[in-house]
Amino acid sequence: MTIHRRTPDRVDTTLLRRAFGAFATGVTVVTVGGDTPHGMTANSFTSVSLDPPLVLVCVGRDAVMHRALTENGHFAVSVLGAHQEPVARHFADRRRPLGQAQFDSTDWRPGPNTGAPLIAGAMAHFECGLWRSYDGGDHSIFIGNLLSLDRAGDQDALLFLHGQFRRLIPYRNEMTA
Ligand SMILES: Cc1cc2nc3c(=O)[nH]c(=O)nc-3n(C[C@H](O)[C@H](O)[C@H](O)COP(=O)(O)O)c2cc1C
Repeated sequence: MTIHRRTPDRVDTTLLRRAFGAFATGVTVVTVGGDTPHGMTANSFTSVSLDPPLVLVCVGRDAVMHRALTENGHFAVSVLGAHQEPVARHFADRRRPLGQAQFDSTDWRPGPNTGAPLIAGAMAHFECGLWRSYDGGDHSIFIGNLLSLDRAGDQDALLFLHGQFRRLIPYRNEMTA
């Protein structure tokens, strides 16, 4: 095992990315509505608080989403199912069209409280008001207070690990394989 002891200003960026990538996550699409709707794939989504109900997402300062979310003041989060890898790839692709056109290839409906696009077929949707934002280095940490939620059945989640999309393999099957 290699143990790296380095001061923070000398961290190897490649090593840091790989180490962060060892933390398996789900995958979401964060959206804002309004005249120029926008969507962005994000795996930094985290539940924060039950009372009051709060969630967070970290958005890169150079992302189009950073400005869109700050200006709009509301956002929605669609938690993607295992079958939605193409959706995740689309909303992570910097070459996708901006504005309404980026949603043309995706089924969605406007959130009742925010107008933010809710991605069809997702495992859960959260509509949020922007509650607080914090400096997070090259990202901002946006905390949202919950305005509405809905949840589909217990489908399999889309996962992200080691820089790749993954699916769950049920533990029991793995043991008997
Ligand atoms: C699985 C996955 C997760 C991602 N998670 C985040 C994230 O949490 N925050 C972020 O700022 N970018 C994240 N990205 C990168 C953005 O989706 C990507 O840079 C996107 O093109 C930015 O869109 P925008 O600049 O048009 O808003 C992620 C990308 C992938 C593939």
